[in-house]
Amino acid sequence: MDDKTGDDQIKGMIDSLGTARIGKVIYFYEEVKSTNAKAMELALAGEEDGTVILAERQTGGRGRLDRTWSSPEGGLYLSIILRPGIPPEGLVSLPLAMGVGVCTALRKWGLDAWLKWPNDVLVNEKKISGILMESKSSSDVVIVGIGINLNTELDDLEPELRERCVSAWSELGKKCDYYKALADLLTELDRVYEDYLEQGFKGLRGQWLSLASTIHRRVRVEMASGEVTGTAEDIDKEGGLLLRDGRGKTHRVTIGDCIHLAQ
Ligand code: BTN
Repeated sequence: MDDKTGDDQIKGMIDSLGTARIGKVIYFYEEVKSTNAKAMELALAGEEDGTVILAERQTGGRGRLDRTWSSPEGGLYLSIILRPGIPPEGLVSLPLAMGVGVCTALRKWGLDAWLKWPNDVLVNEKKISGILMESKSSSDVVIVGIGINLNTELDDLEPELRERCVSAWSELGKKCDYYKALADLLTELDRVYEDYLEQGFKGLRGQWLSLASTIHRRVRVEMASGEVTGTAEDIDKEGGLLLRDGRGKTHRVTIGDCIHLAQ
């Protein structure tokens, strides 16, 4: 039985990580409201590019489109402080790039993981992970927050989520080593972030497409301005979804909720 504390395990993991940027410094909390909020606070106080904020649980986890992210113990909740030197409006594709890293890590754990546009990760068509990128116009920092249902007991999620979500535990039938999973994840995120800094989304777009289950499917995309139903045909070089409706008109969507429809 391993009697190291969580802090010792994190220190050991950082020492053997070998990443270029992500995870050189990790703040580890038992409980926070939101790791994204904590990360922004630390970033504005000067924390460096690549610093990770990790929590065992969140009391006010935030999701995309003003939703909440149910964050009971067992899940992996982390936010990364990034200073890519690119204005936030040029970073629409960054969360998609990070999705490539998350999906690849999940596959390493033995999961049949697929991306749903823009950056949800699904296993058996149910959500296992989501990504929320946040920025402040007054600053050069972006926060990429990632939630993964790792060793999550599905009954601990909000009742309305239980039918639509899975965890690595529920799918693999055994718990994952939290620190090994974290190391795999940070290694993959570092790989994609370095690639992104070098050549933007150019190289990662092909990887995203090969991991995505959204393309060539019938989908409904709900946006603030309304909804479009059609066939998801491609993503462009900024990560926008190209959707052909029943009349043959192509729509480009950058923000919205994508629902995979029955084929
Ligand atoms: C989504 O809606 O799919 C995005 C969910 C992002 C959740 C993560 S958990 C860690 C980080 N802290 C937050 O408050 N949200 C993100």
